[in-house]
Amino acid sequence: TGISLIGAPVDSGQRNRGCLMGPAAYRVARLAESLHDLGHQVRDLGDLVLPPLSGATCTNPAVDQLPETLGWTQVLSDSVAAELSAGQLPIIMGGDHALALGSVSGAARHAAAAGRPLFLLWLDAHTDFHTPLSTVSGNLHGTPVAYIAGRQDFDAFPPFPAPIPGERICMFGIRSVDPAEHAALLKFDIAINDMRVLDEQGVVAPLRAFLDKVRAANGMLHVSLDVDFLDPSIAPAVGTTVPGGATFREAHLVCELLHESGLMTSLDLVELNPFLDERGRTAKLMVDLVGSLMGRKVFDRVTRSFT
Ligand code: ARG
Ligand code: MN
Ligand code: MN
Ligand code: MN
Repeated sequence: TGISLIGAPVDSGQRNRGCLMGPAAYRVARLAESLHDLGHQVRDLGDLVLPPLSGATCTNPAVDQLPETLGWTQVLSDSVAAELSAGQLPIIMGGDHALALGSVSGAARHAAAAGRPLFLLWLDAHTDFHTPLSTVSGNLHGTPVAYIAGRQDFDAFPPFPAPIPGERICMFGIRSVDPAEHAALLKFDIAINDMRVLDEQGVVAPLRAFLDKVRAANGMLHVSLDVDFLDPSIAPAVGTTVPGGATFREAHLVCELLHESGLMTSLDLVELNPFLDERGRTAKLMVDLVGSLMGRKVFDRVTRSFT
C-alpha cells in the first residue's frame, strides 16, 4: 500500500493558535523520508486549503469558528475518501483534533461504499465527546467522537455518513472528561481504556481485545493520535496537556502492536502545536511513533505472535 500524506493546517478547533504549523513541522522532522526509508511508497499531497466560508451559526454562543471547522470538515472528508478509494493509506498531518470530524467522515463514506465496518481507535487524554450544544469551552476539537458516534446536536454539520456504533470505538489514555461528556458516554458502549486501566492491565490486553474484534469483522480501522495521549514530559508541544499520560514505551508498544496487526487503514496525527515545542522534540517523537506504526522494529529477527 502506498501512503498519502495530507497536510491539514486546521487551527479552528481551539483558541490556542499554532496547530496550523503542524504539517510544516512534520515535514521538517522528515516524516516522508522516514516512511520512505522503511520501504513505503510515499506521496505528500501538500496542504489542504480552506474553501469559502458559510455563514453558519450555532445557538450555543460559546462555539468558536464554526464556519472554518465546517469548511475543513468538507475538504478533509473528500480528500480522505478519495485516497482510500485509490487504495492509499492516508496519514493526516494536523492540525487540531477538529480535523477528525472530516477525516473519519471520509473514512466512513469509503467503508460504507466498500461494504466493510469502520472501527475507531482514539488515542487521547480526552474523550472529545461534546456536541456543539454541550461544549462549555466552545472549542470544537472537543466534539469529533460525538459526531462520529451519531449524537444529534450537530445541526450545522452534514449528517455523519454512517455513524460508528459504540462497540466499534475504543479509547486509550483517557484522563480528562467533562461532566456533560461523562453523562453522554454512559449511554454508549464505547471501550474507554482510561489511564487507570492502562496502569493496571498495560496496553497489550485491552488493545488485543479491540484488534481481535476488528479482524473478526474484516473491519477498516481509523486511528486518531492526539499528542496529548502522551505524557507532557515527553510531548510538551500541545495546548491541552494533562499530566499522567502514556510513557514513551507504552506509546511505542501501541504503535508496534498496531503495525503487527496489519489492520490500520487511515491515521490522524493531531494537536501538535510547534509554537509550544522544545527544539522539535515532540514533532520528532511523533515521527518516531509513526515509524513504529509503519513497521520499524528494534530487532527484526525476533518473531512475535500477536494473535
Ligand atoms: N473537554 C475539553 C473541551 O471540550 C478539552 C478538549 C480537548 N480536546 C482535544 N482534542 N485536545 O474543551
Ligand atoms: Mn483530542
Ligand atoms: Mn486531547
Ligand atoms: Mn491545538
